[in-house]
Amino acid sequence: MRKIARAHTNIALIKYWGKQDPALRLPLMSSISMTLDNFYTDTYLEKSSENQFILNGQVMDNKLSKRVFDYLDLLKREFGISENLKVVSENHVPTGAGLASSSSAFAALAYAFSSYFDLALDKQELSRLARIGSGSATRSIYGGFVKWQKGDDQTSVAIPLDEHPTLPMHLLAIELNKAPKKLSSTKGMQLAEKSPFYKTWLDLNDQQIADMELAIKEQDFTKIGTLAEESAMQMHAINFASRPFFTYFEPDTLKVLAILQELKQSVELYVTIDAGPNVKVLCLAKDVEFISKYLKKHLESVELVDTSFGQGVQLL
Ligand code: DP6
Repeated sequence: MRKIARAHTNIALIKYWGKQDPALRLPLMSSISMTLDNFYTDTYLEKSSENQFILNGQVMDNKLSKRVFDYLDLLKREFGISENLKVVSENHVPTGAGLASSSSAFAALAYAFSSYFDLALDKQELSRLARIGSGSATRSIYGGFVKWQKGDDQTSVAIPLDEHPTLPMHLLAIELNKAPKKLSSTKGMQLAEKSPFYKTWLDLNDQQIADMELAIKEQDFTKIGTLAEESAMQMHAINFASRPFFTYFEPDTLKVLAILQELKQSVELYVTIDAGPNVKVLCLAKDVEFISKYLKKHLESVELVDTSFGQGVQLL
C-alpha cells in the first residue's frame, strides 16, 4: 500500500538564523515555532529505475531536485539502502504567502522515507532526519508550539511544547510578492554572521527561549507576540547591519509595516517576517476579520491567508 506522509509548515516565533554545522544543519541557537494548519506537503516514495522528483504533477530537473536527491543519498547512506527512488510531492502551500515550504517539504520527505522502508523511527529521530534536509523542517514533525534545541547531531531535535494549544492565536499572511526569494536562507545566514550585532543576537537566545517557553505555558498572547516580533525584527536588523548590508525587505514590506503600526493603535497584533518580503500578522481569532478588512481597505489588491495551529506529521 502507498504510504503518503503529510507535514505542515511552521512559522518561527523565535527565529533560527545561523548554522554551527552547515552539513548537518546544526543551528547556533534554539528556536520556537507554531505549526500551521492550512499549509502542508504530501509526499510518497516509489521504487524506480532512476531517481525522479515530481512536484505538483511536474517532473523537476533543477536546483530543487538536486537538493532532494542529495538529501536522499545522505539518508540512503545512513541506512545502507541503494535503490533508486521516485519522490512524488504535492505542495499545498500557497506560493508567495511567504510561508517556507521547505519546512513541510523535508519533514514530509523524511517521514515518507522512514515509512517506505519501515524504519520505525520515533519522532525525535524523524526530526533529526528532517533537520538535515532543512533546518525549519525539524520543527514540522510536531504540531502546535514546538522548540528546536541547539545541540549536537543527536540532541539538536524538536520537542513539542504544546501539541494542542487552546490559545485562539492566528497567523495572517499578507501576500506581497510571489517571486521565489532572491537570497536563500542558507546564504542569508552566512552573510548575517558578518554583522557586528550577530554575537549579541546569539547571547540573547537563551533568555528569549526561556521567556517564550514561559509565555506559551501561561498562554499569554501579549508576551508571545511581543517576543516573536522582537526576534523577527532583530534578525532583520542584523541583516541590515551586516557587512555588506542586505535585506529581504522590499518597499511594500515597509508600506505594510507602516499600516500595521497604525492599526496597532486599535487592535492587538504583532508582526513577523522570514527570509522574504512578506509580512505575517499574529493576532487573536476574534480580530482576524477586523484586521483583514483594514488591510484590504489600505492596500490595493492584497491577498490574505488566514491560518492557525496545525498538527504534526501523519500518514494518510
Ligand atoms: C527565517 O530552514 O529555510 O524562516 O536550514 O538552510 O534550509 P535551511 O534554512 P531554512 O531557514 C529558515 C529561516 C527562517 C527562520 C526559521 O524558520 O526559524
